[in-house]
Amino acid sequence: MRTIVTYDTHHGTARRLAKIIADKLACTMIDVDTPYMAEDETSYDAIVLVFGFRGPYTAQLTKLFLNKMQGKLKNKHVIVVGEGIFSDKEFPGVAESLKNLANPYTFNSYFTKGELRMSTLTFEESHLLGDFAKLTGMTLTDMGEFKEEDGQKIADDIAEYLSKQTVIEDKKEKRWICSICGYVHSGDNPPEECPTCHQPGSVFKEMN
Ligand SMILES: Cc1cc2nc3c(=O)[nH]c(=O)nc-3n(C[C@H](O)[C@H](O)[C@H](O)COP(=O)(O)O)c2cc1C
Repeated sequence: MRTIVTYDTHHGTARRLAKIIADKLACTMIDVDTPYMAEDETSYDAIVLVFGFRGPYTAQLTKLFLNKMQGKLKNKHVIVVGEGIFSDKEFPGVAESLKNLANPYTFNSYFTKGELRMSTLTFEESHLLGDFAKLTGMTLTDMGEFKEEDGQKIADDIAEYLSKQTVIEDKKEKRWICSICGYVHSGDNPPEECPTCHQPGSVFKEMN
């Protein structure tokens, strides 16, 4: 399974989680903001998207995130991993809207607790979180370190999930035409002999 992990982070936690997952899957990881990707990500079978929650902007930002990945998720195994303060309650809603936007081949989602340090927040973030606290009734305090073992658990689950999925084959079958009689054959290679005019396979030409 050719897999890539992409992440969107503001304070580095999603990057740490992405690293644990990419290490487990032994695959490349990349910041979603990287303008140039060395490898063509359309060649991957599976994409894991990791992002930190951002209060009321979460849905908006994840849509932006998906737009950046536009066309790269269709017909792929897509796994989204959200990390935030608490909230596996709001995550299924976000995951569902991502699923609809991504048009994936298969879809799975995971949520884990992130990390929050009040002292590292910008002025704007403090305000945003203040509103979030009012909305949820939560008292915001430092959450302590992001737990590596939580990340490890998700990485293990993703590895197991992907091991059960099939590699997506290019559905387009090659077609070959006999240049003598026009007989059309479908398959990876031309037939050994044309079944109608009995010319050798070498007279077949691949059709576009
Ligand atoms: C501005 C802001 C808004 C946040 N909103 C949410 C939220 O709506 N739900 C949630 O569970 N966590 C929320 N969090 C917590 C972050 O998701 C958590 O700190 C996460 O680990 C940040 O990921 P990052 O370090 O990759 O940016 C918020 C944090 C910030 C700074």
